[in-house]
Amino acid sequence: MNDAPDLAAITRMQQQTWSEGDFAMVASLVVNAAEVLVEALEIVPDERVLDVACGSGNGAIAAARRTWGNTVGADFVPALLERGRERASAERLEVEFVEADAQNLPFEDASFDVAMSIFGAMFAPDQERTAAELLRVVKPGGRIGMANWTPDGGVAQMFLTMLKHTGGPPPGVMPPILWGTEERVRELFGEGISELRAEKLKSRQVFRSADHYLGFFRAYFGPIKAAYEKVGPAGEAALTADLRSFLEEVNTAGERALVIEPEYLQVVATRA
Ligand SMILES: C[S@@+](CC[C@H](N)C(=O)[O-])C[C@H]1O[C@@H](n2cnc3c(N)ncnc32)[C@H](O)[C@@H]1O
Repeated sequence: MNDAPDLAAITRMQQQTWSEGDFAMVASLVVNAAEVLVEALEIVPDERVLDVACGSGNGAIAAARRTWGNTVGADFVPALLERGRERASAERLEVEFVEADAQNLPFEDASFDVAMSIFGAMFAPDQERTAAELLRVVKPGGRIGMANWTPDGGVAQMFLTMLKHTGGPPPGVMPPILWGTEERVRELFGEGISELRAEKLKSRQVFRSADHYLGFFRAYFGPIKAAYEKVGPAGEAALTADLRSFLEEVNTAGERALVIEPEYLQVVATRA
């Protein structure tokens, strides 16, 4: 009997989850992380840049402001790519949006100066294959940039709170948050990189209250929508209570508002 997880089936399931809600709304919370990463990547005009698992294009759009064209965003949710096209067109930026799985990129070897992924590629179940694809499409001497939620940070804790109610990830699949540790990133890129800079940074998410946060995420964020569907009416109150108490615990704004500051690992690596 083969106990290996069916990664293709998990990828299809994840594609459905990320298609639920409207991640483009949630993406506005991480615009800053995209800008900070793109600055760290020191992109210059006419470099060819790929944003993997780009959603509605935060990274691709930030890069296009520096490359003056030549930028590609790839994601497996067509509706998010469409939102990226709308955003780029509103800013008169030249960005190509392509439907693709991060584990099987439809681009030639060494065809980009820079590949990046912002809270995206970390979610693909086959971590080795995803790392190999990021390395494959970048030219020797090019850069790979990532922003990955860390295991101790607020977003990871929120996912763990949900998993307590919905059941763990499929057996045998590596947790996405491992990408949030320098050790695992070094292991995954191995000899494919000649240099790596990793730094822990904070994001900032600002809401009126825990209920405002939960209402917003339930409406727009696929993984939370899916968690509520999974627990059904019988489990809804308990899931909400746990998420609310987690949010109140990490709130940094006291009575004034609900502000969470989830930590992430920013990685800039040089392709060997
Ligand atoms: C948290 S969102 C981040 C989106 C975007 N990078 C941003 O910064 O706004 C995760 C994104 O990863 C995409 N994604 C997850 N797994 C993927 C895969 N295997 N292939 C392509 N895209 C994937 C989802 O569709 C979603 O758009």
